[in-house]
Amino acid sequence: MSAEDDKRLAAEAAVAEVRDGMTVGLGTGSTAAFAISALAHRVATGLKVQAVATSKATARAAQSAGIEVIDFADCPAVDIAIDGTDEIDERFWAIKGAGGAMLREKAVAAAARRFIVIADGSKRVARIGAAKLPVEVLPFARSFVVTKLAALGAAVSIRPDYRTDNENLVADCRFQSMADPRALAAQIMSIPGVLGHGLFLDEVDATYIAARGTVARLERDERSD
Ligand code: A5P
Repeated sequence: MSAEDDKRLAAEAAVAEVRDGMTVGLGTGSTAAFAISALAHRVATGLKVQAVATSKATARAAQSAGIEVIDFADCPAVDIAIDGTDEIDERFWAIKGAGGAMLREKAVAAAARRFIVIADGSKRVARIGAAKLPVEVLPFARSFVVTKLAALGAAVSIRPDYRTDNENLVADCRFQSMADPRALAAQIMSIPGVLGHGLFLDEVDATYIAARGTVARLERDERSD
C-alpha cells in the first residue's frame, strides 16, 4: 500500500459519512482530491448534496466531476467538511496550508458542524511544529508583517511568484520549536496585515488516518488526553 492508497482509503471512509441533503465542504490538496473523487462517485450513484469549495482548483475539480458547487458567500453553515493536512497531532491540532488555501479552508472548517481531517500516516506527529506554517499576508503590508513574524522567532520566506485565491501573499514561517501554538496563533493574528494562518487548533472534530491500508477514525471527544 502506498501513501496514495492510504490517502484514498482515508478519503473514502470520511466521504461515507455524507448523507442526502448535506452541504459538504471540500478541502484542497492531493488528499482532498481523493475525497472529491469519492463524493463524485456517490453523486453519480444517486447521492444528493451541494458542496462549497475551499479553493478555485477544488471548485473546478468538483464541478467537472459532476458535483454541484455553491458559493460559500451565500452559505452560513456547512454540514460536514473534509480536508487534508500537513501535520496533525494527538491534541487534534493541525498545520495546514502547504497548498496556500488555509484562509478559505479555515472559514469553511469553522462553518462546518463537523470538520474531518483525512491523511496518510506520514501526517501524524506527536506535536505539530516541524512543518512550515503558512501565513496569508496583505501585499500592502508585506515588509512590516515579515519583520513582525521574524520577531516571533520565524525564518520567513515569501512564497515566490505566488498569490492566493484571495490575491494575497503567503509567508512560510519555519519555527525552531512551537512550544505554545495557541499563544503563537494569537500573536500572529494580532499583526495588522495578517489575514490568516495555517494553525488549526479548534476546528478538527474527527480524523481518518490511514497507514499501510488500515484506516483509523478518532473523535475529538474520545481522545484519552
Ligand atoms: C491546502 O492549502 C492545504 O491545507 C492542504 O490541505 C494540505 O497541505 C494537505 O495537502 P496534501 O493532501 O496535498 O498533502
